[in-house]
Amino acid sequence: DQLGVVAVGFSGGQCKPGVDAAPSALIASGLLTQLHTELGYNLHHDNTVHSYKELMPESDPDVRGMKNPLAVSAVTQKLSEQVYTHAKEGRCVLTLGGDHSIAIGTVSGTAKAIRERLGREMAVIWVDAHADINTPETSESGNIHGMPVSFLTGLAKEKREDIFGWLKDEHMLSVKKLVYIGLRDVDRGEKKILRDNGICAFSMHDIDKHGIGRVMEMALGYIGNDTPIHLSFDVDALDPLWAPSTGTPVRGGLTLREGDYIAECVHETGSLIAVDLVEVNPTLAPGINDIGAHETVRAGCSIVRCALGESLL
Ligand code: ARG
Ligand code: MN
Ligand code: MN
Ligand code: MN
Repeated sequence: DQLGVVAVGFSGGQCKPGVDAAPSALIASGLLTQLHTELGYNLHHDNTVHSYKELMPESDPDVRGMKNPLAVSAVTQKLSEQVYTHAKEGRCVLTLGGDHSIAIGTVSGTAKAIRERLGREMAVIWVDAHADINTPETSESGNIHGMPVSFLTGLAKEKREDIFGWLKDEHMLSVKKLVYIGLRDVDRGEKKILRDNGICAFSMHDIDKHGIGRVMEMALGYIGNDTPIHLSFDVDALDPLWAPSTGTPVRGGLTLREGDYIAECVHETGSLIAVDLVEVNPTLAPGINDIGAHETVRAGCSIVRCALGESLL
């Protein structure tokens, strides 16, 4: 199988440096080699960790409370084209982030390619402790990594072409084609958005109540058979016990196995068209000898391998 790979060393969607070092750490730990030699993928990768330095504006003042709006918009617009180019060729696309703002680029890129190639609307499974669906107005932080879903679904709009105005209808995701798994730190304004729009969401409470097996049946049942699926996996969905090296850790999360299981179930559908792995920050390393970073990178690699077909037997 053909796999497009995009490595995005970008951290401008939030304020903590270091998440831009994740792609190199994931690749250095052998992820891409394993995908080729163990899972048999033919990789299409430019062997570059993109930092998009050439796109960085000289000054980037807040707009509607958003921090680094020009930088995040320019990077995600460029990334959208990179992902689109792979997906248009019929390749599954793996994007290694970077903070979660980069999903504005990845999801818009696959959404456009799937519309053109198949005349279909794809679904997104967003695995995260957070809903990342703040509008600039509901956000308490101004960090755009807490807003990607609102721009992708059109709940937030901005006319300025250089601040996400480049997102057109063909890039958009319907709120009806979005499913969350793992939520446990959702802002008050976000809860209202989820309710008002009837968005399908499975919180940690639902996982405790039904078990991850039943939750995946319900999530995939909601999406329906042979709908193309884009999996956007924020490593902070995992409990900080397993993935401590991330910018906004929240206790009470998924176990390592629950995370892998979600990815395995998505693989089993045969409908996976893209995977994002985001928010690994190897420089935020609690514990001795960087063990936290090592474990987080290891957990992230495992999620990606499971999504791309590694199985236990
Ligand atoms: N809801 C908070 C915010 O809007 C946290 C978002 C965390 N997002 C993430 N991709 N880790 O800032
Ligand atoms: Mn998160
Ligand atoms: Mn919060
Ligand atoms: Mn996120």
